[in-house]
Amino acid sequence: MTRPINLFEYEELAKQHLEPMALDYYRSGAGDEITLRENRLAINRYRLRPKMLVDVSRRDLTTTILGQSLAIPIAIAPMAFQCLAHPEGELATAEAAANSGVVMVLSTMSTKSLEAVAAKKNSTSQWFQLYIHRDRALTQALVQRAEEAGYSALCLTVDAPMLGNRECDRRNQFTLPKTLELANLASMRDLKIPKTTEESGLFTYFTQQIDPSLTWKDLEWLQSIATLPVLVKGILRGDDALKAYEYGAKGIIVSNHGGRQLDGAIATFDALPEIVGTVGDKIDILVDGGIRRGTDILKALALGAKAVLVGRPILWGLAAEGAKGVAHVLELLKEELDLAMALSGCASIKDIDPSWLTNSPKYK
Ligand code: FNR
Ligand code: LAC
Repeated sequence: MTRPINLFEYEELAKQHLEPMALDYYRSGAGDEITLRENRLAINRYRLRPKMLVDVSRRDLTTTILGQSLAIPIAIAPMAFQCLAHPEGELATAEAAANSGVVMVLSTMSTKSLEAVAAKKNSTSQWFQLYIHRDRALTQALVQRAEEAGYSALCLTVDAPMLGNRECDRRNQFTLPKTLELANLASMRDLKIPKTTEESGLFTYFTQQIDPSLTWKDLEWLQSIATLPVLVKGILRGDDALKAYEYGAKGIIVSNHGGRQLDGAIATFDALPEIVGTVGDKIDILVDGGIRRGTDILKALALGAKAVLVGRPILWGLAAEGAKGVAHVLELLKEELDLAMALSGCASIKDIDPSWLTNSPKYK
């Protein structure tokens, strides 16, 4: 295949480079994959209302989140086990993120250590995604390590008290090959993804290790032990968004985990208007799920998000060409967003508002 010219072509190319178990783990959603599909369908239900005769000779794609400036309104979503895609795994992703001026969110469940990934950082921020384990001392130590290593925000994932029902992983009895480890956790408590029969080892790991009793009080607890700002990842309702704000979160990520947790959950682009209406003036809102085109990003920003997170396409780029592939995926998205802005009559990210969309709560 010639070099891909869009993110869908990267997925096709990646399939040639991935073991079936890894491909299933990366690609699949929970249950009947209704939510996985619905994320894309919801984005495609919106239509753009371009403005004409605006001077778009110069476009400004920069933005600010949590007071941190970004070259483009894109972050790399936290995704576990990136060494299944490429030997360099999260190190390659971090290198591409740094070179592209894009925030990378590193998963708790990474296959390279958070310290090694932090060493790839330049002036671009990195954030750390946290899974609160039943073992609070371990969790607290992880947070301290992330702070010491120079991460600039924590993303607390709240949509996974248990792991979703991913039937491919169950059938494959998903586990990590012997050569890979939970790089942040193995050194602390010798935690491993178990080998199981009739179940995904990751599902079993969650059941054994991840704390399903979390409530809003634990968001307070996290902020009492951390100095970094906390974003809450996995919010799908306005009332929860308001609680996140009231409990001190500095940002929220509207997410259904890429359709991997509760199947049948609302698409993120359908959840976004209510959330923006509730807390849009109080807190930074990001969104993920099915972002594959520059026009998808324009739509997210028109709905009131400040930035998007991109998940699986990063893994496709990584599997196909390592750091170069990830950088190219980001470059394609950036070029598409830049062109979409030019053709829509919007010269700057800060100009984008709901009037650019049909089906939006208000035209201006
Ligand atoms: C994820 N996601 C995820 N989220 C999280 O908070 N911690 C994690 O460790 C992971 N791991 C993970 C692994 C893989 C293989 C995927 C595909 C996803 C969810 C991720 O951050 C994000 O919410 C979605 O992937 C966004 O949807 P798209 O862009 O993949 O459609
Ligand atoms: C996943 C977890 C690890 O989605 O968040 O696979």
